[in-house]
Amino acid sequence: MRRQTSVVKVDPSNPEREAIARAAEIIKAGGLVAFPTETVYGLGADALNPEAVKGIFVAKGRPLDNPIIVHVAELEHLGILADSIMAGAVALAERFWPGPLTLILKKSAGIPDNVTAGRETVAVRMPRNNVALALIRACGVPIAAPSANLSGRPSGTTGAHVFQDLAGKIDLVLDAGPVEIGVESTVLDISTRPPTILRPGAVTAEELEGILGQVVLGKQGELLRRSPGTRYRHYSPKARVTLVKEKDRETVDRLVEKCRNRGRRVGIITRRPDFRQSSEGVIVKVMPRELGEYARHMFAVIRELDGEGVDEIIVEEVEERGIGTAIMDRLRKAAWGK
Ligand code: TXA
Ligand code: MG
Repeated sequence: MRRQTSVVKVDPSNPEREAIARAAEIIKAGGLVAFPTETVYGLGADALNPEAVKGIFVAKGRPLDNPIIVHVAELEHLGILADSIMAGAVALAERFWPGPLTLILKKSAGIPDNVTAGRETVAVRMPRNNVALALIRACGVPIAAPSANLSGRPSGTTGAHVFQDLAGKIDLVLDAGPVEIGVESTVLDISTRPPTILRPGAVTAEELEGILGQVVLGKQGELLRRSPGTRYRHYSPKARVTLVKEKDRETVDRLVEKCRNRGRRVGIITRRPDFRQSSEGVIVKVMPRELGEYARHMFAVIRELDGEGVDEIIVEEVEERGIGTAIMDRLRKAAWGK
């Protein structure tokens, strides 16, 4: 179904009431609205309306076995969504919500099957973003929302990215400019023991351990079973992505040379400002040293390189601490299978 996609600019801290009211009307009528969160933009539908949720899968081209995160604005709404609130869930929610942490809980009977892709669990989070919170409150229902990108593409971190991917497929984009964090939420499965991180994000394992004691990082094979989203190609630009060790200038030079000999255009993502435009046909993107800033710009830079039509993207690894773990997770997935 072709849809007329409107874009409405909103004030990120104090969203205009009319814009929120219009978006809420669309959601309540079963439509699709993209909205900012602190992590990435989400593509929202009424989580209690299976037809509306089906529209999300269609618009994104999302595999039907990949479940969707449900967004709430009040802690009390956990009770509607989850069957039994597992030990630790409330403590985690009180500490990290609103914020970039998604909890996997045993689901209640009221949630449509397509939201959870037929699973016994539901993913829930409360976003730390005034536009998102105002929208959820105005709708009066929880909002199911995956990242607002075509399935397999890098997540959208600006309203423009969302429009690029989803124009003609959704009803409205609430455009509040660039997001705060830039990588998707930490997904933590607390429906089984020990609590397992299925996707790293801005809330780190160390922070979670502060509340829960032991937390483990999901292992590759196990993740395929427990976290359907990891099965699919992700964050994939059209170009081929290769990761190299930081400071390994020789490997970078060798890769660039090889590509150029084959007439392939190359993009380099580096954090070294001294990395000058080394040669013709090579586009260098110098990223911020600080990892939070890096995360904020990462998907945008990958999209830019794609827009410039490069065939290969060479990316220097970053240190895997703090949000660096999430950055490396996304970069590995972007490089995966190419
Ligand atoms: O920051 C975020 O989490 C953003 C914003 C919009 O909230 N959302 C997001 O949604 O990244 P999505 O659909 O792109 O990624 C959700 C991930 C997928 O890997 C999905 O498989 C996993 O969460 N997931 C959802 N429900 C699950 C469940 N019941 N069990 C295991 N994994 C689940
Ligand atoms: Mg996604």
